[in-house]
Amino acid sequence: MLGAGEMGSRWTREIWQPFRDRMELAGLVDPNPAALDKAGDWLGLPLAARFADVREAFATVDANYCCVVTPPDHHREAVELACAHTMDILSEKPIADTLEACGAITRALQVAGVRMMVTQNYRYTRRILTLKQAIADLGAVNYAVARYASSWWPKRRGDAPSGGSAVPLASERARSGSRLTSCRLSALPLSKGYRNALIES
Ligand SMILES: NC(=O)c1ccc[n+]([C@@H]2O[C@H](COP(=O)([O-])OP(=O)(O)OC[C@H]3O[C@@H](n4cnc5c(N)ncnc54)[C@H](O)[C@@H]3O)[C@@H](O)[C@H]2O)c1
Repeated sequence: MLGAGEMGSRWTREIWQPFRDRMELAGLVDPNPAALDKAGDWLGLPLAARFADVREAFATVDANYCCVVTPPDHHREAVELACAHTMDILSEKPIADTLEACGAITRALQVAGVRMMVTQNYRYTRRILTLKQAIADLGAVNYAVARYASSWWPKRRGDAPSGGSAVPLASERARSGSRLTSCRLSALPLSKGYRNALIES
């Protein structure tokens, strides 16, 4: 498990809990000692299974797969390490922070033959499924306009003016919004053309 921050804690405390009889958490990585200790203590993980360094963790832990819940600019490194250890990946969205990093991830997965799934948990919430059904009831939709009206952005990240991102479509939260729009319309979240552009980038 890579990342014991805000979302990483949700994974360890909520998302994985129903599966504890079927899976064993082999290791936890976070360079922030407070986050690592808090999550490690809650899980009852031995100190030998807690790592501040992601490279050391991959070199030490033998696992069937890894779960990447680190900030987007660390996803590429995690995926490349997982590929080097032929470890399948379940990753938080987005794939990565830049198109270049997404391309590198795509290529690394292809070369290693490693599977990676990027989560989008909101797709399966009741409000999204309900809206999706309502749109389906309309019949074929040829054209849709979506306005991303939310302007929240955690001030703690410090890279956007308070009250919202100056470039909303460059923010990961806005990307969540646009992905949900395509999900509601049953569009493919990643078109073949875009996928090819990623591979070529
Ligand atoms: N699906 C959702 O609803 C949802 C919600 C919030 C965040 N996210 C995603 O989850 C991921 C993490 O976001 P967050 O809100 O938890 O961020 P966060 O800043 O709260 O936590 C990230 C944690 O990762 C740690 N970290 C940094 N580099 C690391 C590395 N190389 N190896 C291991 N740990 C490392 C940091 O110390 C920190 O504790 C992002 O990809 C984000 O987009 C998803």
